[in-house]
Amino acid sequence: MSTPTAFQVALGFEDGVTRFIDCRPDETVADASYRARINIPLDCRDGACGTCKSYCESGRYDGGDYIEEALTGDEAESGYCLPCQMTPLSDLVLRVPATSAAARTGAGVHTATVTAVERYSGRTVGLTLDIDDRRALDFLPGQYVNITVPGTDQQRSYSFSSGPNRRAASFLARITDGGAMSGYLTERARPGDRITFTGPLGTFYLRPLTRPALLLAGGTGLAPLLSMLEKIAQGPAAHPVHLLYGVTTDEDLVHLDTLAGYAAAIPGFTYDHCVADPASGARNKGFVTGLIDARTLHGGDADVYLCGPPAMVDAVRSHIAALGITPASFHYERFAVTAASGAGAPAGADALVAGATTGAAR
Ligand code: FES
Repeated sequence: MSTPTAFQVALGFEDGVTRFIDCRPDETVADASYRARINIPLDCRDGACGTCKSYCESGRYDGGDYIEEALTGDEAESGYCLPCQMTPLSDLVLRVPATSAAARTGAGVHTATVTAVERYSGRTVGLTLDIDDRRALDFLPGQYVNITVPGTDQQRSYSFSSGPNRRAASFLARITDGGAMSGYLTERARPGDRITFTGPLGTFYLRPLTRPALLLAGGTGLAPLLSMLEKIAQGPAAHPVHLLYGVTTDEDLVHLDTLAGYAAAIPGFTYDHCVADPASGARNKGFVTGLIDARTLHGGDADVYLCGPPAMVDAVRSHIAALGITPASFHYERFAVTAASGAGAPAGADALVAGATTGAAR
């Protein structure tokens, strides 16, 4: 197999902006970044100061030459790296210790055309876009974008429900009374409408599957997990993946057929769902916490990905703590539920997902 002429490196900044660059196997990540006019932190450029020290979330690389003062053996062992010295041996995902503004870059701006508006239920709409320059849009499964509501200057945050390799980009939107995007999606949205969005954003994305994973979705928080599943379906599933999906009422349940399809296609993938409404016809009534125990957490040897409203995030964290289990990693993203607007602001009341917070605890 021949070596690619360049690998893709995702640079994740502290403010949630992610930029993707091409890096040749014979050039350092720092050189490739500056070639792309992205000024990641650098000082000595010689592996001596540690200023560029970053964290590699995934991928293989040659760490290059450096001294212990710049990067200790323990740090290198746990995934820290020096972009001024490292050269890629595969695609990489790096966490860079700077904001995108400090690196003189920012989120990309993209334009697209609406190709489908699907009303799944009274409270859930699917939006599909055809991106004008699809090759210019790279993202990690789980990330989100800020979409400008057509006809307004307001932005709302939506996670991709589609995978990174699909031509079309899809989103799930939760409909709420009086929401700017809700008004657009339920009253005015038509195929052919033009859309502008910025991104990708967020640190809630799928890491390499090195152990079992538990995916937890609350309502339309299912979207980023669908994007992750699309990615998981493309690779060899080395570890079991279990998804728990909780909603308020039966009509909030969407994409069960999609989940059934993944269960058939991905070895080791299983899922279950629950509905809080006591009148529901679902087998499991109540909240996802009722379905989480030591077994679903593999006794702690599991990576947990959770996307849902703040109350659900808090309830799940408390529940897992009460079980006396500390998952190997815990990544979460909350919906915002208060009206807001503007790039980088919490998502509005009608938004599917705000890329507000991701936490990982080890
Ligand atoms: Fe000094 Fe990389 S810039 S170690």
